[in-house]
Amino acid sequence: MTDKTTHFGFQTVAEEIKQKKVAEVFSSVAQKYDVMNDLMSMGLHRLWKAFTIQVSGVREGDRVLDVAGGTADLSLAFARKVGARGQVWLTDINHAMLSRGRDRVFDKGFPLPVAQCNAEKLPFPDEWFDCVTVAFGLRNMTHKDVALAEMQRVLRPGGRLLVLEFSKVWKPLAPAYDLYSFKLLPWMGDKVANDAESYRYLAESIRMHPGQEELKTMMEQAGLKRVDYFNLSAGVVALHRGYKL
Ligand SMILES: C[S@@+](CC[C@H](N)C(=O)[O-])C[C@H]1O[C@@H](n2cnc3c(N)ncnc32)[C@H](O)[C@@H]1O
Repeated sequence: MTDKTTHFGFQTVAEEIKQKKVAEVFSSVAQKYDVMNDLMSMGLHRLWKAFTIQVSGVREGDRVLDVAGGTADLSLAFARKVGARGQVWLTDINHAMLSRGRDRVFDKGFPLPVAQCNAEKLPFPDEWFDCVTVAFGLRNMTHKDVALAEMQRVLRPGGRLLVLEFSKVWKPLAPAYDLYSFKLLPWMGDKVANDAESYRYLAESIRMHPGQEELKTMMEQAGLKRVDYFNLSAGVVALHRGYKL
């Protein structure tokens, strides 16, 4: 065990402990993940993801990597776009989330390749993908810089990375948003998924995640170019886009 520490929500923990705790969260919520997503975001996550697909510019025949793809919302949408000539990889570090994702894509008639892997060490060759996406995953990673560098590595020149993640909300909305996330979210988590703790972690991890400008800088440091971002729902979420040139 190293003596390096990081954040797990508001707690400071050893790096190894963070990965273990994140794994516990997603193993615990996997069964109720989709229904909770709809409830918590009042369906908005569907619009945020639809926007991501639109901005991705993914076309028929493209190769797409969905990092931390979980229950496969983005993978499914990309599979419809790229068609039979394209390729979409659904990946995630967590077995429970990935199993649900794999079942979903198969049930919907898209037998996509699936890989259980850590975003910090992607099992793909350099310059392979036209587009790499990570939706609501980066926040949970221990070494975000390493993960971003890996995503950059597997992009072909001209390819783009899209990071959809919770971000810093427009200031006037912060008090209402805090009330919602620290009171209502854990309560809903308890009632629907029998797990208040995981949803408390969600609220805390959002607060600890870099804001719009900081994430933009991190992407630039990972080697991405022309990085820009779109604030969605008053900055509750931001979609960052960067290119490998
Ligand atoms: C909130 S879910 C997002 C799932 C899906 N992308 C979506 O938008 O619905 C976060 C996912 O990140 C995954 N994750 C966390 N750390 C990871 C890592 N280091 N490498 C790959 N996936 C990771 C979790 O297992 C979980 O499935």
